[in-house]
Amino acid sequence: MQQHVERVLIDREAIARRVGELAREIAADFRRELPGDVPEITLVPILTGSLIFVADLVRQLPLMMRLRMVTVSSYPGQATSSEGAKIEGRLPEDLSGQHVLVVDDILDSGNTIRLVRAELLKRGAASVRSCMLLRKQIPSAMAEHADYVGFEIPDAFVVGYGLDYDGYYRNLADVVTLKADILGEGEAT
Ligand code: IMP
Ligand code: MG
Repeated sequence: MQQHVERVLIDREAIARRVGELAREIAADFRRELPGDVPEITLVPILTGSLIFVADLVRQLPLMMRLRMVTVSSYPGQATSSEGAKIEGRLPEDLSGQHVLVVDDILDSGNTIRLVRAELLKRGAASVRSCMLLRKQIPSAMAEHADYVGFEIPDAFVVGYGLDYDGYYRNLADVVTLKADILGEGEAT
């Protein structure tokens, strides 16, 4: 697996530092903006890509929270460009009064976060904020609102720390690019 790596874009130490910073920022904002001594939030991780990020993040968030996972697929199989987002998980019908933090691995076309945000608001969420580990420096991603962004990265297909290619490489500890021959014939975006 390691031999498939072209380049380490963000190493595990940098990720750990940034996740700590994001947690402190998020906790401070929610404490300031929401009522109560220990604010209560609903955390919505978008699976499967945010799995590892969210596990690290929530353990540093001293807030009362419930996790409501959703699964959104947008890169089926070996595709490396978005083919339209589709919610596969189930969200509770009623989220009225809940302050939601959506967590995803990467902001690319923006289809996923737009779809999830719309669904959450439809179910009555009082507020919806978003936290993305990565954002690609491409117009579609830069134009999309995100409350918290871990890292801005060049327009490359990346894997590791939860992100996959054809379901693999999620368990790499760093965010990396893959060698061209692994990504297949001219498929990479
Ligand atoms: P969007 O809907 O195009 O913004 O893309 C968001 C989803 O596409 C993310 O949650 C990822 O699952 C997937 N994705 C986008 N870019 C990459 C990438 O470079 N590597 C792996 N997955 C990606
Ligand atoms: Mg995803």
